[in-house]
Amino acid sequence: MARPGDSKTDSSTRTSNDLGGPRMTIRRYQRSDLDAVSRVCLLTAAAGGDATGAFVDDELMPEIWARPYLAIEPEWAWVVAGDDGAVSGYILAAPDTRGFVERYRAEWLPRLSARYTRAEPALTPDDRMRELGFTPERMLVPEVDEYPAHLHIDLLPHLQGRGLGRQLIDTLEHALGDAGVPGLHLSLDPANTGALAFYRRLGFGELESSTVDEPLLGKKLPL
Ligand SMILES: CC(C)(COP(=O)(O)OP(=O)(O)OC[C@H]1O[C@@H](n2cnc3c(N)ncnc32)[C@H](O)[C@@H]1OP(=O)(O)O)[C@@H](O)C(=O)NCCC(=O)NCCS
Repeated sequence: MARPGDSKTDSSTRTSNDLGGPRMTIRRYQRSDLDAVSRVCLLTAAAGGDATGAFVDDELMPEIWARPYLAIEPEWAWVVAGDDGAVSGYILAAPDTRGFVERYRAEWLPRLSARYTRAEPALTPDDRMRELGFTPERMLVPEVDEYPAHLHIDLLPHLQGRGLGRQLIDTLEHALGDAGVPGLHLSLDPANTGALAFYRRLGFGELESSTVDEPLLGKKLPL
């Protein structure tokens, strides 16, 4: 598969100040962004709001929802940075969810298992969240072959509503299209009604296996 950036029309860096406020740049993820991305993840992980203190360990959310992507697919991550260099948003993706699940199991699970104990049965909210981290096969949704890529996108509150989310999705879609990926999908917390409205506005539709409790959205990409 082509990597993002192989194309001559790569659109990985853009700036946005059309709605006022500080000028922000969308650029590729660099290793030095790891802590900032982890922080944004924690601050947006409770249905779009701050998840600080929601679990026994504040590292749990980034360990499941952000760092595996940065470790396994760093070339498929972009961040939003201010002129001072501060990173306040990102989009992370796995272009091939099946391949990602295999690598997650082989490369990420050993790290997660060294850090966290698996509770069987998973009774508490902490147990259940950890269980998601221990079961990457949950990502193999029935529509995965039609919509092979999946994504996570998060912006801190001061960057929301300025068109940056749309630009991040656009950046990812262009890179996926260049790499010949036919579709992308995502799941989200049903309580996150703002994100649901955002994705719908950007042309994502509910997939067949979507349920009220576990919404699953997808979008085909022009090839
Ligand atoms: C969801 C999120 C990524 C959207 O990014 P954003 O930069 O705020 O959205 P944009 O400003 O790019 O909006 C793009 C379009 O979606 C619409 N939209 C965005 N949020 C909306 C909302 N809450 N309700 C209705 N429409 C919304 C905008 O009106 C805009 O439409 P337009 O371009 O036709 O005018 C961002 O708000 C965010 O990170 N929220 C917190 C974390 C989160 O929920 N992440 C998603 C987890 S699944």
